[in-house]
Amino acid sequence: MKILKINGGKELSGTIEIGGAKNSAVALVPAAILSDKVEITNVPDISDINALEKIVNYLGVQFVKNDDKVILDSTNLINKPITLEQSKLLRASSYFMGALLGKFKHVEIYFPGGCSIGARPIDLHLFGFEKLGARIINDGDKYIIDADNLVGADIDLSFASVGATINILLVATQAEGITTIRNAAREPEVGNVVDFLNSMGAKISGKDTSVLTIEGGLELKGGKIETIPDRIEAGTYVIAGAMVGNNLKIAKVIPEHFASLTDKLLEMGADIKIGKDYILASKSNNLNPVDIVTQTYPGFPTDLQQPITSLLTLANGESTITEKIYENRFQNVPYLIHMGANIKVENQTIKIKGPTKFKAGEVITTDLRAGAALILAALCAPGETTIKEVKHVLRGYENIIKKLRKVGVEIDLEDV
Ligand code: UD1
Repeated sequence: MKILKINGGKELSGTIEIGGAKNSAVALVPAAILSDKVEITNVPDISDINALEKIVNYLGVQFVKNDDKVILDSTNLINKPITLEQSKLLRASSYFMGALLGKFKHVEIYFPGGCSIGARPIDLHLFGFEKLGARIINDGDKYIIDADNLVGADIDLSFASVGATINILLVATQAEGITTIRNAAREPEVGNVVDFLNSMGAKISGKDTSVLTIEGGLELKGGKIETIPDRIEAGTYVIAGAMVGNNLKIAKVIPEHFASLTDKLLEMGADIKIGKDYILASKSNNLNPVDIVTQTYPGFPTDLQQPITSLLTLANGESTITEKIYENRFQNVPYLIHMGANIKVENQTIKIKGPTKFKAGEVITTDLRAGAALILAALCAPGETTIKEVKHVLRGYENIIKKLRKVGVEIDLEDV
């Protein structure tokens, strides 16, 4: 088991550079197999990318990584069933459904893995595939999806799902005629995938809006994309700066992508300055409580809900967070309480009464962003905190040990 030891209570100063977005990169790699040879830059160094490398290698794709640049050559791509083990490696394994269905009109795969934060069904993905002409055979966790012909369609999503929007996009580029996706997710990561597919020769319009129109059936060749900066990684470190920073600079970001977070921090009276491509954050002793509701983009992201809970523990008064996206995303709460927070869970809302002081302790990470929340609490707590099961964190935060050490954190990763 991988554990983190953090000696907290110290100020953080200096610069943290943000890497490429996990949620973009994990879609860009499966999307790459729709073309022959592509280049993706600013790819984050995280274990989710290593998992995807294994899956594309299995499919006969050459994956060559040099620093943050990945060249994928799918000239010898073969369609093989994605195994149960591969499917469970991460949530984004589901993008092989769209990519292989589009490319071969046949895919065999299992229900995807990923953080256990709720049921996370894939019904909207399947609804879109069926609209485009696919037949689905589902036996337990296994899916066999076939099509004689893929034909463009008008697809109205009942929820603006990121995964469904991207997966349907992948198939729609290969379907004859025009596809329209209504109530499409507007997350910046979707726009990054749209730019990538268009660089291969696809014709997709409506980027960053809730209606995407795809002229399908065009041959996709080549392609080049830069992964956008990770707005969730950036947001996590901005929160760290607001908790224990002394002019902590979070660099290489697109502040507009996490304006819902910085708006809340300003409402709290946090000491942050927003630059063109950076944020400066410092600790403030006078933070107001706020109410937060998680929403789809451009609303407050569910992925920053757990991290900001740690900051709200320091605010003067009662804050609330209502989680609207996932039904089981408060697993960090018992551990934050163990470290001194005063939090009550009432259905999908938590009430955080501050200010309380974090104290060091031994806690367990249950999922990626819960881990980030515990790290933030540990940065504040004087003494040594041990965080177990940090493999979840390493899936999504690149070089987190190196980045935190550089700004003054005493942190060690141990394998026990
Ligand atoms: C992506 C992100 C994840 C983020 C989430 C919401 C990746 C790899 N992960 O996950 O970090 O928390 O967006 O911003 O990009 N839903 C259905 N049926 C479906 C699909 C989704 O009911 O077919 C529901 C889900 O259960 C959830 C909500 O829609 O309640 C949001 O899911 P979705 O936007 O699809 O998230 P993911 O793509 O899984």
